[in-house]
Amino acid sequence: MTEFLLIILAYLIGSVPTSVWVSKHFFDVDIRDYGSGNAGATNTYRILGARWGTLVMIVDVLKGVVATSLVVLTPYMSHPFAKTNFMVGLGLAAILGHIFPIFAHFKGGKGVATLFGMIIALQPIVAVCCVGVFLLVLFLTRFVSLSSILASVAFAVFILFIWNEQEPLYRIFAISVALMVILTHQKNINRILKGTESKVPILKHRDR
Ligand code: G3P
Repeated sequence: MTEFLLIILAYLIGSVPTSVWVSKHFFDVDIRDYGSGNAGATNTYRILGARWGTLVMIVDVLKGVVATSLVVLTPYMSHPFAKTNFMVGLGLAAILGHIFPIFAHFKGGKGVATLFGMIIALQPIVAVCCVGVFLLVLFLTRFVSLSSILASVAFAVFILFIWNEQEPLYRIFAISVALMVILTHQKNINRILKGTESKVPILKHRDR
């Protein structure tokens, strides 16, 4: 029962629609009506500027960290396999909350920042490697979406082939999140193929 309530709590934490609340509260607009239409840090950066984009990113990452860390409230802490499995469940609940937030009519973001927070809580070293892939792709292409997709695929590759994780649930989870991020980025992939995806204007304008 406690576990079920914690999964619900993780979903509610993930459901906090940071970008929607920030845009509505401080700018009287809904971020989903602008730019890519995505309720995420990238679109907030694009529409409201670097400071707000950074704030949204930090909160969305923290949602994943906090939700996954709810495992400390269970008896699983001394059982490594059970602990990892339950953390995966908590993290997935938070990511689903971020993508389908109950507090914003189930129209949320693409799950990347919250997934990253979950990876930080689960395996910090892998999280650093994923950031490395993200930054490298961003530096080479300036597409945040492509960077997010390839960092998520890199996560699966790290877990399956480099970390050589043997726990079946974790292996399924790694493949699933990579596929999920590809799915949530379908529109971005189409825009990249058509040549209409927007690039991050690095050092091109200053935030007001
Ligand atoms: O994590 C979302 C990012 O990868 C893409 O955001 O606004 O360009 O669709 P956006």
